[in-house]
Amino acid sequence: MGKKTKLMMLGPPGAGKGTQAQRLASRMGIPQISTGDMLRAAKKSGSEMGKKAAEYMDKGHLVPDQVVIGIVEESLKSPDVADGFILDGFPRTVEQAEALDSLGIKLDAVLNIQVDEDVLVKRLGGRRACLTCGATYHVEHNPSKEEDICDKCGSETIQRDDDKPEAIRTRMGAYRGKTAPLIEFYRERGRLYDFDGAQSPDEVTAAIMSVIEE
Ligand code: AP5
Repeated sequence: MGKKTKLMMLGPPGAGKGTQAQRLASRMGIPQISTGDMLRAAKKSGSEMGKKAAEYMDKGHLVPDQVVIGIVEESLKSPDVADGFILDGFPRTVEQAEALDSLGIKLDAVLNIQVDEDVLVKRLGGRRACLTCGATYHVEHNPSKEEDICDKCGSETIQRDDDKPEAIRTRMGAYRGKTAPLIEFYRERGRLYDFDGAQSPDEVTAAIMSVIEE
């Protein structure tokens, strides 16, 4: 099989999906399609859809399937995805995975990043995010050069509303109940590759690249 270019990131909140998706996108020259980033941009724009989505996101609940499926469907029609794409945060329910199937999209690889929950809670509490370009940092493991300023675009970095303790617990529950079943869904289809997300970001990227290029 040639290089895998239709990719999906899977894993619990804070596993490093966004971090790895950004790295892969810049190495491979294909777009990252992050539903979380798109929903946060809609919230920031003040659109009706953004306001509605924020009611779910800020508390750590999943946004209804139909809203998210509609957004991703639009992105996958763009000419930018002709050479491949990295889905980051979608599908997140079996219903969303079936919707992707019904669009006729066959993924080359589902990159499943797993990390223990206590590590995840610490990571999310220390995360800072740029709402302008989507870059993520961590106050200890991966700080921006200048405090609270994005290295990539110079905008302010902030703590996300859903990175507060109560919302983190709700997100973990949503992951266990609705997203974790996708592990078996894609394993049965022979598309799933497992990665130990407790390693350093560079080690995780190297492990992923060896699977993509095999
Ligand atoms: P989304 O933005 O997708 O959030 P998430 O899945 O909870 O994932 P995170 O962004 O929190 O974590 P990540 O795995 O990307 O980790 P990151 O690389 O940032 O979704 C947010 C919300 O939007 C959802 O809760 C939901 O409401 C809604 N939504 C989105 N998609 C949806 C969908 N399909 N259906 C319904 N609702 C949807 O890393 C985390 C931190 O750890 C960072 O600080 C990073 O610097 C650090 N880090 C990363 N890797 C390492 C490492 N190897 N070692 C040490 N630190 C690391």
